[in-house]
Amino acid sequence: MKLHIVKNYDELSHAAAEKVAHIVKSNPKVVLGLPTGSTPLGMYKELIDMNKRKEISFKEVITFNLDEYQGLPREDVNSYYRFMWDNFFSHIDIVKENTNIPNGMADDVEKECTAYESRIEKAGGIDLMILGIGNNGHIGFNEPAQFFGGITHRVKLTENTIEANSRFFGAIDRVPRYAITMGIKSIMHCRSIMLLANGKAKAEAIKKALEGPITPELPASVLQLHRDLTVIVDKEAGSLLSCR
Ligand code: F6R
Repeated sequence: MKLHIVKNYDELSHAAAEKVAHIVKSNPKVVLGLPTGSTPLGMYKELIDMNKRKEISFKEVITFNLDEYQGLPREDVNSYYRFMWDNFFSHIDIVKENTNIPNGMADDVEKECTAYESRIEKAGGIDLMILGIGNNGHIGFNEPAQFFGGITHRVKLTENTIEANSRFFGAIDRVPRYAITMGIKSIMHCRSIMLLANGKAKAEAIKKALEGPITPELPASVLQLHRDLTVIVDKEAGSLLSCR
C-alpha cells in the first residue's frame, strides 16, 4: 500500500487528479472506475481543467461508475447519472457510449447487475478504481455486513448511509432505500485502486480500514489485501493513523 497524507482537500484533489492524468496519458484507452460523493469533486474539477488545457483527453477512456440508487430516474437531480454528467462528463471530451452507470430503473435488477459485470469484463476489466469511503467504512454501497459481498448486486442501504445522504434529498424519507452497487469482489478485481478521504469525520473509518482487522463489518478493510492500493488522505482524515 502507498499512503500519502497531504495537507488539505486541495492537495488531495490535486494529487488524485495527477495520478489519474498520469494513467490516462500512459494509456489513452484506460478503463476507470468512478465514485460520486463530495470527496472526488475537487479531483473532477482539476481533471476538467486539465482537459480544457488539452493536457489530457478522455476521448478513448472508458468509465464504470460504482453505484446508483434504485428507483431514481436518470434525470432526477439526486441520481448518480445526473451527478456524473453535471460534475464531470459534460465538461470533458468523453464519448457518451464509453460511460457506464448501473441503470437504477431497470425492471429486472438481477439482469442489469449481470449485464453490468459483463460490460466490465468485455472492456477488459477496470485498470484504476477510485473510491471514497463512508463514515461507517462502506465502499460503493457495500455496507457493514456479516459477509463480504460478491459482484454487482442490489443492496438495502443502512440507516447510517440513508441519514448521511439525506443532506442531498432535503428529507430523510426521500432517500431511496435500495441501490445497485459493484460488489467487493468486483472492486478487488480492479488492477489498481485509489482510496480518497478528507475531513475529521472519516478519521475513524480510515484508521480501521488501514490498520484494523480485515472484516466485512468495516468493508473498506478488505482493501488491505489488494496488491496495488494507493491511499490519499488529508491530515484530518489521517489523524488517527499510527503510521502518520
Ligand atoms: C459514491 C460511493 C460512496 C461514497 C462514500 C463517501 O459513489 O460509492 O461509497 O464514496 O459514501 O461519500 P462522500 O465522498 O460524499 O463523503
